[in-house]
Amino acid sequence: MLQKIETLLQEAKSISFSSPEEVESYRIRLLGKKGILGDLFEQFKQVPTEEKRAAGQSLNTLKQAVSETIENARAKFETQNTDVKEFDDLFRPTGFEQGHRHPIWQVRDEIIDIFSRIGFIVAEGPEIEDDWHNFSALNFPPDHPARDMQDTFFVEGDIALRTHTSSVQIRTMEKQKPPIRAIFPGRVYRNEAISARAHCFFHQVEGLYIDKNVSFADLRQTLLYFAKEMFGSETKIRLRPSYFPFTEPSAEMDIECSLCGGKGCPFCKHTGWVEILGCGMVDPAVLENCNIDSTIYSGFAFGMGVERQANLKYGVKDLRLFSENDRRFLSQF
Ligand code: PHE
Repeated sequence: MLQKIETLLQEAKSISFSSPEEVESYRIRLLGKKGILGDLFEQFKQVPTEEKRAAGQSLNTLKQAVSETIENARAKFETQNTDVKEFDDLFRPTGFEQGHRHPIWQVRDEIIDIFSRIGFIVAEGPEIEDDWHNFSALNFPPDHPARDMQDTFFVEGDIALRTHTSSVQIRTMEKQKPPIRAIFPGRVYRNEAISARAHCFFHQVEGLYIDKNVSFADLRQTLLYFAKEMFGSETKIRLRPSYFPFTEPSAEMDIECSLCGGKGCPFCKHTGWVEILGCGMVDPAVLENCNIDSTIYSGFAFGMGVERQANLKYGVKDLRLFSENDRRFLSQF
């Protein structure tokens, strides 16, 4: 046994490798599960007591020598590798930075998450819409300004890029009978001059709840829950009367200005409040347009701009930043 250990020790000191694979097979041969060292330690149990001490020592020496040989050989191949990496292609980018989701997508996901927790499912509709789904079924009168070329991008005839995600309300109600509890995230388009406050496309999340006995109080409570989850548990909301063709009554919701705490500042135009969404009770005529009996069912709808929420949450004042893809801006999120 001592003789064998001696031979292996000499080998460990003199062996050289020409590839990492050779190092690996040496390791397996010596240190592997069924390796030589394992065998030797097995045999060691049979060694008579008076020889145990000497045999034990040389076994340990061998084990250490083998481990060192392997480590050194591995280190050698590793440095060789990095040398190659650095010099074989001077134009190769050095490593990749990890990207992340766009801030608009992050906020969109957060909104979806908040409503999912109270049972809203997610649905989507097409960005190229017909007149019926974008306007007529939603009660827009024939002479409504949104139907004008000035305000809407028309594709062909009465086909246009949707101006809001309310079109998905109609598509959902046509397909599905109440109860309906869903949100519709998506991109919308308007023929606007691009400025810090307006863009020709942006993102919305629409919400729709239809069932028996749905009231304005349900709407208010749902939106209060959303505001607190989104902007913090101390957030206060207020609803102002407003007008949309497809909801009656209609309202706009404000939250207390987070920058000045409601005292009034340039950001909230000294009112202490900032608008975050439009909402209302679904107009019975809209339900009837989708063959839902408005004497049995009622419901509420709301729609919010995703950029607007991002803008309030992160204090981004210029909308254009969200679509310019400037990494100095994006990497802050
Ligand atoms: N569609 C409206 C808009 O784009 C928002 C809205 C949605 C209002 C649902 C009421 C109900 O401004």
